[in-house]
Amino acid sequence: MSAPREPLGVIGVGWVGLVTAVAFADLGHEVWCLDIDRVKLDALACGKSQIHEADLEATLVRTLPRLHFTDDPADLFGAARVAFVCVDTPPTASGDADLSRVEEVVAALPPSAAGALLVMKSTVPVGTGARLRHVLDARGLDHVGYASNPEFLREGSALADFRAPDRVVIGASEPADAERLSALYAPIADCIVVTDVPSAEMIKLASNAFLATKISFINEIANVCEEVGASVEEVARGMGLDSRIGQSFLKAGIGFGGSCFPKDVAALKQLAGNSGYHFQLLASVIEVNSMQKRRVVTKLQRHLGSLRGRRVAIWGMAFKPDTNDMREASSIVLAARLVAEGATVTAYDPAVDVALAARYLPPEVQIAASALEAADGADAVVIVTEWPQFRELVGSLRARMATPLLIDGRNLIDPAAAQAAGLAYEGIGRIPLPARIAAGLPAGS
Ligand code: UDX
Repeated sequence: MSAPREPLGVIGVGWVGLVTAVAFADLGHEVWCLDIDRVKLDALACGKSQIHEADLEATLVRTLPRLHFTDDPADLFGAARVAFVCVDTPPTASGDADLSRVEEVVAALPPSAAGALLVMKSTVPVGTGARLRHVLDARGLDHVGYASNPEFLREGSALADFRAPDRVVIGASEPADAERLSALYAPIADCIVVTDVPSAEMIKLASNAFLATKISFINEIANVCEEVGASVEEVARGMGLDSRIGQSFLKAGIGFGGSCFPKDVAALKQLAGNSGYHFQLLASVIEVNSMQKRRVVTKLQRHLGSLRGRRVAIWGMAFKPDTNDMREASSIVLAARLVAEGATVTAYDPAVDVALAARYLPPEVQIAASALEAADGADAVVIVTEWPQFRELVGSLRARMATPLLIDGRNLIDPAAAQAAGLAYEGIGRIPLPARIAAGLPAGS
């Protein structure tokens, strides 16, 4: 029998916090989960999670005997000496991160927090650690340790990412704190980067900004490919085989979304701006992403002329497949643009229900019960989220649509299959099918 693992605390059991809590509980730790939302805590204590995440609820149920839920910080610090801070840091109107919830956590630290280690998992601007250190010291909590431990979890594979991270980043000013945290991750991480707090904070922002830059870069390459008759998928494949570039995050489409990339890119640009540096490249990454969401409207107009009175079906509302998360999803901008152009818009997503869609989309957008229902009588179908099941429906589209036009915003469909199904087809940065055949290229990319 191995020695019992040390009890841990998690402050804020939203998506990051809950994944962190159940993953550590699964490793054998007792985990004390603190949140201000009593209703959420009660549901979690019954093994129920509102969060749509692979394996999360099953792991929650399995680890319930080691999970403790409370809204009283004294309970957490009475039991645990290491507390992961996972509260949200949403963007403010200026693009800065709103740190009020982090500050509330520090303000609510009880005397029993003495000697504990606060570990920041929330994404925060560089310099937050130093700032919080001052706040802690000013409160006489100089005996509370502080470390940065950013998360790099992807929605839909968050638990798998947690259990097999490419690297774990730990920023600490005290070597003992870094060692303590490294020991927690030793069972799952082959690579642990120990560094100072500001560098750890920057690694998180710079990583997401770089990935977002890759996407905007390949999206611009796709746009040029359309002009010059090249295929972006061929180009990305050829580029990605260079080990300095790599294959990932080179999928062209109608832009990135989600709760992290848009927020973190804006936060890094803002952070640089606040210190007097204009981050030119990131300004372009943001602008390219915004334009990319709108380009589909131009494609539709090229085929249909004015969109006034035209029926357009949006397939996919979530920012990516395998999630119902619509935050910053490309569907939001596209739906709003189409409504503004006078189109009648119907949308469908296998994971998004009517109530959730209504929170993000203009009220004029109708929500269909199935993808094919959305396509009924449509002049165009636009694929916005690459749910694989959409592939199977292409053959049934022509009979249901008024005009058989498919705009594939994620290059999900084989153009030859679309043509065989009698559809006019356009992807992103793809060579039109007749030109591909004439050039002797395979139909698929
Ligand atoms: C991302 C980061 O990957 C993760 O490390 C961080 O902690 C949180 O943000 P996530 O938001 O779950 O994770 O989404 P991800 O799978 O990375 O995709 C982000 C967006 O980029 C999606 O809208 C996706 O469609 C888009 N994308 C991704 C592309 O358009 N092309 C690509 O090649 C890859």
